Amino acid sequence: MSRVFNFSAGPAVLPESVLRTAASELLEYRDSGMSVMEMSHRSRDYEAIIQDAERLLREIMGIPEQYSVLFLQGGAHLQFAMVPLNLFRGSKKADLVHTGAWTTRAIAEAKKYGTVNIVASSEDANFSYIPKLDTKAFSPDADYFYICSNNTIEGTRFTVWPDTGPVPLVADMSSNILSEVMDVSRFGVIFAGSQKNVAPAGVTIVIIRKDLIGAAMEITPTMLDYATHAKENSLYNTPPTYTIYVAKLVFEWIMEQGGLPAIEKRNVEKANLLYDYLDESTLFKGTVPREDRSLMNIPFVTGSAALDDAFITAAAKNGLVQLKGHRSVGGMRASIYNAMPVEGVQALVEFMKRFEAENA
Ligand SMILES: Cc1ncc(COP(=O)(O)O)c(C=O)c1O
Repeated sequence: MSRVFNFSAGPAVLPESVLRTAASELLEYRDSGMSVMEMSHRSRDYEAIIQDAERLLREIMGIPEQYSVLFLQGGAHLQFAMVPLNLFRGSKKADLVHTGAWTTRAIAEAKKYGTVNIVASSEDANFSYIPKLDTKAFSPDADYFYICSNNTIEGTRFTVWPDTGPVPLVADMSSNILSEVMDVSRFGVIFAGSQKNVAPAGVTIVIIRKDLIGAAMEITPTMLDYATHAKENSLYNTPPTYTIYVAKLVFEWIMEQGGLPAIEKRNVEKANLLYDYLDESTLFKGTVPREDRSLMNIPFVTGSAALDDAFITAAAKNGLVQLKGHRSVGGMRASIYNAMPVEGVQALVEFMKRFEAENA
């Protein structure tokens, strides 16, 4: 068996030890006589799994008691609709910082149910930076204030949370949840698809302040009302049982690594390895200013589409795969989520140095 270094933006690399545990328990989970895949979601074994997953996530992120943790389906995309359906309760207005492809989708969906006030945007430079915020542009009567904390495609990241006062801050954390220490109490809602730092695709984590649950718009379908799932501890209907089980294994792995402080330290070291090289390279260039750089998704270019293609092909032949950038940005993108070992980033930088020397 030879595993490559997988720089995919998602679904993405998982910790090898998690895959090994899942493999060892695939046919029979503990002494249950069956696979987790085959278990009723109402069985005692499975209830212990989902409860452990929630307990571990609460511990890792320091999620306060007054927040519900939900395991839902529909991906982050469904949250683009669920957030406005559940939070538009007064002015039916949302403030939003427009930072890329994923806020474009969120805007389109929220506009179906109310108005979206774009308080700042980086569209003028292909979303390559996080715009500065002027609180005078904020709406004091907004029902919520929306950001995408890490822009997977553009490689930018919020390093300071907007100060929204009493207006609940909502964050799409799909590509940087669990990557660094974050103060959950700054947020009204955090949501994230699982397929980057949590598990295989299939579950969406929603962390929501309890007072924001229970006033959904009348048109809200039962399944899209946070209250439906909060009341039933994410077991209103059949949840994505196996994905939640793998998420639990990943949470255990994060605890073994030393929790988020240790994970964050390693992520900063990994990202710096690549950014430091990009800053000194004469061939490769990063596309994001230093202060807004993502720790998870690092886009870079050579300036020549032909050379970019040659690099991506040569890298793949050397076991460094999924480095093609998103079509809206071009070039390359290295996604280096929690489970990417430092050795993977070292191997990438070494290969880039060789490629640069050969193509100088
Ligand atoms: C920041 C962000 N938001 C939303 C999405 C869409 O997620 P999903 O495919 O789970 O709906 C993605 C993509 O993976 C993403 O990176």
